[in-house]
Amino acid sequence: KNIAIIMGGYSSEVEISLKSGAIVYKNISKELYNSYQIHILKNKWVLVDDAKKEHPINKHDFSAEINGEKIIFDCAFNAIHGHPGEDGTILAYFDLIGLKHTSAPFYQMALTFNKRDCLSVVKQYGIKTATSFYLDKGAKINVDEIVKKVGLPCFVKPNNAGSSFGISKAKTKAEILPAIEKAFKEDTQILIESFLNGPEITVGVIEYENKIKVLPMTEIVTENDFFDYEAKYLGKSEEITPARISPEIHKKLEKVATQVYQILNMSGFSRSEYILVNGEPHFLEMNTVPGLTTESIIPQQAAEAGISLQELFHNAIEMALK
Ligand code: DAL
Ligand code: MG
Repeated sequence: KNIAIIMGGYSSEVEISLKSGAIVYKNISKELYNSYQIHILKNKWVLVDDAKKEHPINKHDFSAEINGEKIIFDCAFNAIHGHPGEDGTILAYFDLIGLKHTSAPFYQMALTFNKRDCLSVVKQYGIKTATSFYLDKGAKINVDEIVKKVGLPCFVKPNNAGSSFGISKAKTKAEILPAIEKAFKEDTQILIESFLNGPEITVGVIEYENKIKVLPMTEIVTENDFFDYEAKYLGKSEEITPARISPEIHKKLEKVATQVYQILNMSGFSRSEYILVNGEPHFLEMNTVPGLTTESIIPQQAAEAGISLQELFHNAIEMALK
């Protein structure tokens, strides 16, 4: 079977995705599959071979040609964080041309990548979240109104982005406008959320051997103000797996994370994030293409569960091909 590992993307997360994709390529069994690294970049879609030579992808059927031989893919492994991978765009195209892939259907991906819309759905099912205020680019900004709703400090986030790009914690009224400007550099929609005080726990939920499996949970301890880009990738945080939580809290989180996975009709990989406010899980967001780099959390959680990366990726491909 020919597997196209798609990586890169058009967002600020491009470098992280290239790292995630390279890890997938390295750990996919060469005996079981012919895997290829496909870079989906703003200016080109190319298959990059082991000699780093680039071969253009034919956008009509997503095929490639190496030395006169046409390669048709059986499955795409989605390692694109952000647009156009994690937000479902390229998956809608794969549906149209009949190419199987490792992610959830494009609609689920689009829904969950939009923080406001994802939160509004899970809230309907009684899942606790922060209080939030939504803003479109160009709308009139009334800082008093924002503070009245979400309080201080608050988090200002691009509505559609990942890896904490464009996120700030505003501690005073004066910090809100600059934070909004920063977030608008990443996105045309932003979300301002109330500060939830408590430990942050991130929960990997995957489809494994046809069942929903909750991986060992990770507690995030950061020396920065929050789990920002530096904390995530430049070592400014400690990620403790398994999280230091009581069996009761573990049970609660397991239940909520499984419920969220089901409410959002997920399949394949996911990692959802929670803040424990007085022991009550509050849902922050869903990541449907969680990072797979050496600094990322899913590989740590899988290792703790005794699942090797080879097994993890093999399982994802087999589930996609079914
Ligand atoms: N958005 C990053 C890659 C993550 O969720 O791990
Ligand atoms: Mg995220």
